[in-house]
Amino acid sequence: MAKLAPSILSCDFSRFQEELLSAYRGGAEIIHIDVMDGHFVPNFTFGLPILKAVRKILPEVIIDVHLMTDNPCFYIDDFIREGANMISFHLEAVADYSSVVDEIINRGANPGVALAPGTPWQCLSPVLDRLHYVLLMTVHPGFGGQRFIPGMEDKIASLRQEIRRRGLSTEIEIDGGVNDQNIEYLASCGASIIAAGSLVFAHQESIEERVRTLSKKIEPY
Ligand code: DX5
Ligand code: ZN
Repeated sequence: MAKLAPSILSCDFSRFQEELLSAYRGGAEIIHIDVMDGHFVPNFTFGLPILKAVRKILPEVIIDVHLMTDNPCFYIDDFIREGANMISFHLEAVADYSSVVDEIINRGANPGVALAPGTPWQCLSPVLDRLHYVLLMTVHPGFGGQRFIPGMEDKIASLRQEIRRRGLSTEIEIDGGVNDQNIEYLASCGASIIAAGSLVFAHQESIEERVRTLSKKIEPY
């Protein structure tokens, strides 16, 4: 059953609490938090204070932190202490990704490795069995509201095939450019967690309704 993970990058921060509660009422079980350092990606976002606020507003939600930073190890401890349940870092940002995965596991969170669109998933092959999830970027990391990169469907499908072949339960999270037209198809290709920012928060419909409608679309997969 594929799940939606609303990405707060696109929310209206002047109505932060209201929008988060609305997403939760609509059935969002996972909230996606994009941490950008202005160096690994050409944009800044937020860090611990926002994570703490999400945890305070939604004590039960699964917090999924997507680190788009250099030196991810520097942040892992603090983010887990403040309530992150899932943490992904970029393979492209570190020299020894296997030890970062160990670090996340040792601190008690679910590890994920994020891959930029141009990085083949095969790079992760040696650690796949230890990962809770692989985050496939389907846009270039850094900004919300971009267009889905064509061809990423094949990457999702071939990774799903490998996960099945190995008999694993690894989740595939996709992130970026998900829209009303492609969401269902992407779930059918094997994406089990779908991060979506503008699709959820920048819309006429209420956020609660939006989460409900989108979740229903991907539920069968
Ligand atoms: C982009 C972020 C995404 C972003 C997706 O680098 O990692 O999580 O929120 O935004 P949309 O869904 O608008 O493409
Ligand atoms: Zn993200």
